[in-house]
Amino acid sequence: MYTQKVLKHFQNPQNMGKIKNPDGVGKVGNIVCGDVMHLYIKVGKNKQGQEIIADIKFQTFGCVAAIATSSTITQLAKGKTLTQALNLNKNQIVKNLGDLPPVKIHCSLLATDALTEAIYDYFRRYKKPVSPELEEKHQRLEKERQLIKEKYKDWVQAEETALEK
Ligand code: FES
Repeated sequence: MYTQKVLKHFQNPQNMGKIKNPDGVGKVGNIVCGDVMHLYIKVGKNKQGQEIIADIKFQTFGCVAAIATSSTITQLAKGKTLTQALNLNKNQIVKNLGDLPPVKIHCSLLATDALTEAIYDYFRRYKKPVSPELEEKHQRLEKERQLIKEKYKDWVQAEETALEK
């Protein structure tokens, strides 16, 4: 079953919605179920001059676990440096939520993948250097996104159209 914390995030998701003129957008899908998440970031600087996630919002077409993990990752990433945000992983999200049923662990990947893609998009837009690891991850996620689009054609199209509105 879901923990109280998962249900709390599902019933009252934090940072849901879109950011106007975002610095980066991550669009990912889940190969297991075809669900889709869009994540938006605004980048700022902390007192040490490091780039941080100043604002973050998400839109997710997904299950209870997908919504709860999306909400959680926005809370965990806000105010973090981009390096710290890139290091957030599904285990931290699951731990933060108390736990997730094993069949729902794949749902938490949407959140971490979307954050990775949003930061990648920010680097690309502002012509910043991208590490080989991040480039490799982006290539894998992009390939997956195309596979998902082929596999769940009409479903993904409908979801993406709704999110673009
Ligand atoms: Fe699709 Fe959970 S079943 S993200």
